[in-house]
Amino acid sequence: MRDKDNDRVDGSRRTWLIATSVAGGIGGVATVVPLVGSFAPSEKARAAGAPVEADISALAPGSMMTVAWRGKPVWILNRTDRMMADVKKADPGLADPNSEHPFSMPMPEYCQNEYRSRTEHKNILVAVAVCTHLGCTPTARFQEGPQPNLPDDWPGGFLCPCHGSTYDLSGRVFKNKPAPQNLDIPRYMFASATTIVIGKDEKGEA
Ligand code: FES
Repeated sequence: MRDKDNDRVDGSRRTWLIATSVAGGIGGVATVVPLVGSFAPSEKARAAGAPVEADISALAPGSMMTVAWRGKPVWILNRTDRMMADVKKADPGLADPNSEHPFSMPMPEYCQNEYRSRTEHKNILVAVAVCTHLGCTPTARFQEGPQPNLPDDWPGGFLCPCHGSTYDLSGRVFKNKPAPQNLDIPRYMFASATTIVIGKDEKGEA
């Protein structure tokens, strides 16, 4: 149930504005790509919006870019080895570490692991940056340890500025926060080692 505080969410935060860079200063570039391949999109997929293609060739380890897909921001985070270790560190504090309760879209089966990524590029996280509480866009808080609005044992992750929900570096929500579920992981695939297509995979369009 909503309470009054929740209803006072700053509307501007809920517009799902696209950040152009976070943490590493990398700008997000997304291109709507024509529908290619042997899969004909369903009517539902066609109505929802085309897949988008992102060039990650300049995405350095530890950096994140944001692209727009179906009117929502989608993060692409290139996690370092340390960040991958931080994901493991976060496990005990998470509400749904195994992502058993998807939010607004089914979890792709190839991301059903704690890194929530494809095994051939497991350091790359692709997640919909829409808080599962009331839709604000969380902010990157990659630095570990004590800092404002976060616990002293903070392992690195994301903080939602609206009501304080926190997510780990795989987009999994921490326990006892207003947000009930993990961030969505869209279907995606690598068209090449440096090109990601969001909204489409080997099985077709999302
Ligand atoms: S919108 Fe409420 S915690 Fe994110």
